[in-house]
Amino acid sequence: MIARGLLVPRSRGEEIRQDLLEAGLLRPDLAIRREADSLILPLSGPPEEVPASWGEIVEREFREVRPKGPVRYRDLLPWPEAEKEILPRSFDVVGEVVLIRLPSELEGRKAEIGEALLRFVPGTRLVGLDHGVHGPDRRRAVERIAGTGPWRTRHRENGVELEVDVERAYFSPRLSREHARVAEAVRPGERVYDLCCGVGPFSMAIAGRARAAHVTAVDANPDAIELLRATLERYPVGGRVSPQVARLEEFLPNTAPVERVVMNLPHEGIKYLPSVARTAVAGGHLYYYEVVPRSEIGRRGNTLVNALSPVGTFMVAAQRVVHPYSPASDLVAFELERQG
Ligand SMILES: C[S@@+](CC[C@H](N)C(=O)[O-])C[C@H]1O[C@@H](n2cnc3c(N)ncnc32)[C@H](O)[C@@H]1O
Repeated sequence: MIARGLLVPRSRGEEIRQDLLEAGLLRPDLAIRREADSLILPLSGPPEEVPASWGEIVEREFREVRPKGPVRYRDLLPWPEAEKEILPRSFDVVGEVVLIRLPSELEGRKAEIGEALLRFVPGTRLVGLDHGVHGPDRRRAVERIAGTGPWRTRHRENGVELEVDVERAYFSPRLSREHARVAEAVRPGERVYDLCCGVGPFSMAIAGRARAAHVTAVDANPDAIELLRATLERYPVGGRVSPQVARLEEFLPNTAPVERVVMNLPHEGIKYLPSVARTAVAGGHLYYYEVVPRSEIGRRGNTLVNALSPVGTFMVAAQRVVHPYSPASDLVAFELERQG
């Protein structure tokens, strides 16, 4: 059948297939097409939701595939197809916990949706309605809609089982490849600041690869640091991660500059950026995350570099869309290199 697809270089095919899967945008009933050095991934969502940097939207003939069993949780709901239209395509799996956001029209049917997810996702113990992250500690408000037990769980990411509590400290499984990408860039012997570290997924990925000499992991939320300490009890990584409860305002003054600095505080990070940038040595790299309106992504890197000119000379070494954030904005990773 003819359908919309995303044309991507074969070398990035698996990475972008994962991105689409996590965003609920990969169509499961059509087979991926191969054309010379490209793949065409069948799309199930509105093409505007696919970040432009992931590939080109095309129309092609796709082969239909008949998967065994339900391919989507909605297949487990005995509702008329028209009523399923407003069901979200995506949800997050954090260890044994599944989190989903629902539009207000589905509030009265949340228990049924929770039961469907409990049956659909293997290994799920608890399903929560995700009411978003709030407050300075970015804690998630969650409401149990199916299953039992605590919100605390262990989530496997980049070879480590992280201690996570989806209610007490921020964690998103959508950042796993970003954590790995940054870890891969770290060279042996480098010192790293993981600022706003949450439960420490960047720190664990970096130290787990045995490259960094030392990672200082800082967060204002004591629960996040307690969870990171609990992970470190099981994965001591040679004592190379030092967790610290501190606000950036306390930590940043008088800290020695290091080779890599990660700051993942996408909505407020901009106010700390100059003082964070001062903690990078010349030749050092700063990984800065921001939610950016899609129309401004192309200009944003240079705007950041100009804003940092009183601190030093920076260049945009790389930038990438991590995932779509809203219909008109993306979470973007900026890698800024200090030149002087
Ligand atoms: C988006 S989460 C990032 C979590 C983590 N880096 C990750 O990749 O999962 C932002 C974190 O910043 C912390 N935070 C917010 N304001 C802070 C501040 N002023 N100083 C230190 N940490 C702060 C919050 O407690 C939260 O854990």
